[in-house]
Amino acid sequence: MGTAEETAVISFEQKVALITGAGTGIGLATAKLMAAHGASVVLVDIDGGALARAAEAIGVDADRVLSIPADVSDAEACESALTLATARFGGIDFLVHCAGIYPEATIAKTTDAAWQRLMNINLNGTFYICRAAQSRLRDGGAVVLLASLAAHRGSYAHAAYAATKGAILSFSRSLALELAPRVRVNSVSPGIIETAMTRDLIGQKGDQLLASTPLGRYGTADDIAGTIAFLCSPLAAFVTGETLQVNGGLYIS
Ligand SMILES: NC(=O)c1ccc[n+]([C@@H]2O[C@H](COP(=O)([O-])OP(=O)(O)OC[C@H]3O[C@@H](n4cnc5c(N)ncnc54)[C@H](O)[C@@H]3O)[C@@H](O)[C@H]2O)c1
Repeated sequence: MGTAEETAVISFEQKVALITGAGTGIGLATAKLMAAHGASVVLVDIDGGALARAAEAIGVDADRVLSIPADVSDAEACESALTLATARFGGIDFLVHCAGIYPEATIAKTTDAAWQRLMNINLNGTFYICRAAQSRLRDGGAVVLLASLAAHRGSYAHAAYAATKGAILSFSRSLALELAPRVRVNSVSPGIIETAMTRDLIGQKGDQLLASTPLGRYGTADDIAGTIAFLCSPLAAFVTGETLQVNGGLYIS
């Protein structure tokens, strides 16, 4: 066995990945993995403190990391994040859009404001960041959007969230058509992944969810990061307009 670099199946040397929601969870795990395989990373998150900790945790030379505090539900903030990233690195090769929220409320208890906030962050944010990124993505690049098992099955007390994720699936297929053959676009639908986002859900229904998961555990942020890295890599060179479900078998059980 050689070193990790010598045996790496995937290399992102000379590549630039812009990752939203990079302060914690799946975004941070993806940034770490892609940076460990050679990528320069542009970290975008609304939480400036989490961004600073993430930049530290990634542990690569400072010249390969750019942190941009930004709210993805703000179209101008998305545009300026891409302007900054392009000024620093000349363009980007990958957009991985993980920023999102997951508030719980039944439809009866969802206020107009709560519904609108979810649409603004999860859905409008996806549109704004993709629109800002599309002309800055270099040939051979890739976009990965984060959907959810909720988009496929529905989700009790998360109808607004599920609606945004269903829309992201159809948005990502449409974007794949528009950016082909230059850039591939795919989405990932995670099941139950142990991050801050699912702490309450796991607290309330953990036993039931584990019992319905054939692989017998929750997913980790690293499980999803690996799938995202695969979709960005040349191993997925003929994959576009697809959705990869990563849920330990929860969907089929
Ligand atoms: N954890 C799961 O089980 C799970 C399941 C299905 C889908 N997902 C999706 O995966 C993605 C990442 O989830 P996670 O589990 O890592 O969540 P997380 O809560 O750990 O991370 C989300 C990150 O997004 C950032 N963010 C929130 N609103 C933002 C905004 N307006 N602008 C910029 N950044 C913002 C947060 O600050 C946070 O750092 C989300 O889109 C989520 O819907 C997660």
